[in-house]
Amino acid sequence: KNIAIIMGGYSSEYEISLKSGNVVYNTLDKDKYNTYRIHIFKEKWVFVNDMNEEFPVDKNDFSVLVNETRITFDCVFNAIHGSPGEDGYMQAYFELIGIPQTSCSMYQAALTFNKRDLLATLKPFGIKTAENYYLDLGDTIDNGAIVAKVGLPCFVKANKAGSSFGISKVYKKEDLKAAIDKSFKEDNEIIIEQFLDGVEVSVGVISYKGETKVLPITEIVSENDFFDYAAKYEGKSQEITPARISDDYANKVRNEAKKIYEVLNMTGFTRSEFIFKKDEPYLLEVNTVPGLTNESILPQQAAKAGISMEDLFDNAIEEALN
Ligand code: DAL
Ligand code: MG
Repeated sequence: KNIAIIMGGYSSEYEISLKSGNVVYNTLDKDKYNTYRIHIFKEKWVFVNDMNEEFPVDKNDFSVLVNETRITFDCVFNAIHGSPGEDGYMQAYFELIGIPQTSCSMYQAALTFNKRDLLATLKPFGIKTAENYYLDLGDTIDNGAIVAKVGLPCFVKANKAGSSFGISKVYKKEDLKAAIDKSFKEDNEIIIEQFLDGVEVSVGVISYKGETKVLPITEIVSENDFFDYAAKYEGKSQEITPARISDDYANKVRNEAKKIYEVLNMTGFTRSEFIFKKDEPYLLEVNTVPGLTNESILPQQAAKAGISMEDLFDNAIEEALN
């Protein structure tokens, strides 16, 4: 089978995506699959071979011409974090041209990537969420109204972005403006959330051999003020799997993560983030193309469940093809 591993993307997360994609490329068994690295950037969509030669992708059918041979793909392994791999655009494209891919489908991706809409959708199903305040580019910024709704400190976030790009923790009303401007560099919508002071955990849920499987829970202990970019990728955090939480906490958060997967009719990978407040897990977000680098959480969780990286990636392809 010919497998295209798509990586890169149009957002600030492209470097992490290249790392994730290369981990997938180096892990998949080359005797079992013909694997191709495809870089997806605004300027170019290209197949990159081991000599780093580039061959353009024909966007009509996602085929590549290599030395007079036209290569078509049986499956796409989606390793693009952020836009256009995690927000539904690539999903829609592959759905239209009929190539299966490993992440969830177009609608699930678009919904989960929009933090405000995801949280609002899940609330009626009993999922707890922090208070939030939403701003569109150009809206009047009313510091008083923001603080009245979410309090201080609060988190200012791009509504549609990943890896903590554009996030600030704000302690003082007069710092809101700068934080809002920073978030608007990542997205034209922002969400300002109430600060929840409790244990933060990350829960991976995947379809594994046809069943919904909840992976061991990870506790996030950040050296920085919150789990920001440096904490995520520059070692400034500890990720402890399994999390040091009570059975009661673990059961509650496992149930919530599984419920989210089922309510949303998910396929592929998800990794949901929660913070405990008054003994209840509050949902922050759901990632549908979670990091697959060596520092990333989901592969560590899979390993604790006895699922090797190779098995994890093989299974994703099997699930996509079925
Ligand atoms: N957005 C990053 C890649 C993650 O969720 O792991
Ligand atoms: Mg994220």
